[in-house]
Amino acid sequence: MDKIVIEGGASLNGVIPISGAKNAVLPLLAASLLTPEALRLRNVPQLADVRTMAKLLAQHGADVSPLANGEMTITAKDISNLVAPYDLVRTMRASVLVLGPLVARFGQARVSLPGGCAIGTRPIDLHLHALEKMGAEIVLDAGYVEARAPNGLKGADIVFEKVSVGATENILMAAALAKGTTRLRNAAREPEVSDLANCLVKMGAKIDGIGRGTIEIEGVDALHGAEHAVVADRIEAGSFIIAAGLIGGQVTLQNAHVDLLPGVIDVLDQIGISAVQTDAGIEVKRTREALRPHDIHTQPFPGFPTDMQAQMMALLSLADGASMISETIFENRFMHVPELIRMGADIHIDGHTALVRGVKKLKGAEVMATDLRASFSLIIAALAAEGTTQLHRVYHLDRGYEAIEQKLSNVGAKIWREKEKAA
Ligand code: UD1
Repeated sequence: MDKIVIEGGASLNGVIPISGAKNAVLPLLAASLLTPEALRLRNVPQLADVRTMAKLLAQHGADVSPLANGEMTITAKDISNLVAPYDLVRTMRASVLVLGPLVARFGQARVSLPGGCAIGTRPIDLHLHALEKMGAEIVLDAGYVEARAPNGLKGADIVFEKVSVGATENILMAAALAKGTTRLRNAAREPEVSDLANCLVKMGAKIDGIGRGTIEIEGVDALHGAEHAVVADRIEAGSFIIAAGLIGGQVTLQNAHVDLLPGVIDVLDQIGISAVQTDAGIEVKRTREALRPHDIHTQPFPGFPTDMQAQMMALLSLADGASMISETIFENRFMHVPELIRMGADIHIDGHTALVRGVKKLKGAEVMATDLRASFSLIIAALAAEGTTQLHRVYHLDRGYEAIEQKLSNVGAKIWREKEKAA
């Protein structure tokens, strides 16, 4: 197993390229199951989760090209196995996104109940209720979801009780091949959902209302192959904006766009970090010596994303005053707090809210990555801290951030990877 070592204090200067979005590429890969023709994806990031999804598709029988130069082609012509097994699904919750496409195209699927980050119970009831409304028969059996629709899915009017990115994506894909029209209300408006919808349109789907809370899909008999470039990763971009803004220097984030971060840019501006769009990407600068505290509520897009809550907490740990951070999306998403405290942060949790009192400085320590986004918050804290930090369990980081040490060391950070010594 690897660990990442960071010596804090180096300023960051230069260009950081932003990769394709993890949360977009996973549903796009699942969408390849909707057609026997080739789906060619560009701007695909090298991530552990992409490799897991590729394995999952391959074991269904899809022909998956190796990822080279950011390109990957999947041809789901001869699908021989409609089961998504426990050992793949448990490592990555997004595996459940094969359910909609498989039932829509083949009339049945058996998918293990998901695992993924330990940030809450994270049920899939919204996915299942929607599929039932579309005529699927759903049975839970020995940790698996069995879905059957021998005569195909039919269009339905679906009102999601909660905004769910995954449920919107799963049902969007299922509805593309259903008979008749499906209307999704209270749909997720995240840019990754729109990226999927845009790709489905290229594959021949009929979708109206992309990017809005109500989406209408008129089912078609078959979808065809397409080529699509994955949208830039707004969470990676936002994470680097915080790192660069906190540590100082001049950093440009190539391929990044402020339009994808509406709930974040304005908040950072008030705190004391400016992120301005230029032709070269997003230019980041710290505008205040003493960072202002700020209260944060996580919300579905276009609100402040839960996937940036941990990174924001690392930043506010060093602000000049106290901030309240309320996590409204996931119930167990403060696992980074004890680790930040080990580095000298002053944070108290009360239910879904954390009170973050700014401290003058953080100190390097041995810390443990607990989930994907929490890992990056510890990297931000370590870059700003005095002394050396050792970050253990970096496999969480490898699930969702491409080439993180290279990207940071290229702009001047003192960061490297080492093998953990055997216990
Ligand atoms: C996706 C993202 C994840 C992000 C999250 C919220 C991917 C691969 N992952 O996860 O990075 O943190 O959106 O922006 O895109 N819920 C239910 N029942 C369901 C489905 C969800 O109660 O059937 C709840 C969840 O427990 C959570 C909330 O709805 O409280 C939002 O979850 P959802 O948007 O579905 O998250 P994911 O799609 O899993």
